[in-house]
Amino acid sequence: MKILSIDTSCDETSAAVTDGRRVLSNVLYSQVLIHAKWGGVVPSIAKRAHEERIDWVISEAVRRSGSFAELFSRDQLASRKNDRMDSIDYIAVTYGPGLAIALEVGIKKAKELAERYNKKLIAVNHMEGHIYSSFVQSKNGRPERPFEFPYIVLLISGAHTELVLWKNHLEYEILSETVDDAAGEALDKAARILGFGYPGGPVMESLAKEVDNEDKYKFPRPMRRHDQPNFSFSGLKTSFLYYVKQMPEEEKAKNLKYLASSFQEAIVDSLLFKTEQAIKQTGVSWVVVGGGVAANLYLRHRLRALVKKHKGSVYFPPFKYLTGDNATMIGVAAHYKALSGLFVEDFSKLDRVPRLSL
Ligand code: KG4
Ligand code: ZN
Repeated sequence: MKILSIDTSCDETSAAVTDGRRVLSNVLYSQVLIHAKWGGVVPSIAKRAHEERIDWVISEAVRRSGSFAELFSRDQLASRKNDRMDSIDYIAVTYGPGLAIALEVGIKKAKELAERYNKKLIAVNHMEGHIYSSFVQSKNGRPERPFEFPYIVLLISGAHTELVLWKNHLEYEILSETVDDAAGEALDKAARILGFGYPGGPVMESLAKEVDNEDKYKFPRPMRRHDQPNFSFSGLKTSFLYYVKQMPEEEKAKNLKYLASSFQEAIVDSLLFKTEQAIKQTGVSWVVVGGGVAANLYLRHRLRALVKKHKGSVYFPPFKYLTGDNATMIGVAAHYKALSGLFVEDFSKLDRVPRLSL
């Protein structure tokens, strides 16, 4: 089953062709450099950039998937060369959560294509995509990773921090979520306080690594009581801000790496504490991680140690691009929706849902 998927939820214009769990092509046009000078994603600029690039991104994804050539003979190919969409079974698109005017670009394009080529349409929750991202396979079916439900899913992106009990395909129960900032957002803000640009997560990670992740400042760990299931990072961010503000410039400059490292440590500690709480509460010690912050190698190292202690296992997205936003994960989640017959009945009723939850 071949699916052409589209994601324009934030600052990446992405289209992919997947076949079940296998990725045949993934094209990603990142806007990171455009938004960097504003210190974060500007919705109106994102919308325009998506509009300018989406046609190229989609046609490249279809062309690179090679699926067209496999399905038709040489003669047929010659007569159909302008109609590569023949080999695609379904079209999938992210309808939330995300930036409203950015989501709209992908949805409009998906509807247009589905109507023009007479394909069924599948609407996918972006976070569901991040959940499935650890199960994406290469063209050759690697890694194998058979599904063995249930899992605890730790979702950590720029806008979300959630722990989810993943009971079966398309069956989720939210165990905890952030009451204010997301983990990625907190890292971005802390990096900004230290004078670095967006996105801040990778900068914080590499600064921390240079001082062996030393926790020199021991910033507060929020929500440590067992009767508090949720995450909260804004208190940590505020205490970081005040601490940095009162530091003499020279001392701050000398200790940048330690500040970054101590802040990252507080974030990682909080993520681990709640993940362990979820493991204990559910008895499930197979953990799946998704979202931009899942790229962080220090976090991966700490999570591996945690699940080992609980005799479990942890899966991360197998290829680096799958930690960030991409259409491949949307196509794989869509595959399971298609298997359950979950198609959009009436295209005119499909609209973006910026605050969509699982
Ligand atoms: O999932 P994502 O690409 O976009 C959203 O859907 O939000 O996540 C972006 C977030 C940003 O906050 C970025 O700073 C963070 O992921 N991030 C990282 C790393 N790479 C990206 N955080 C920590 N360590 C990293 N290596
Ligand atoms: Zn995302």
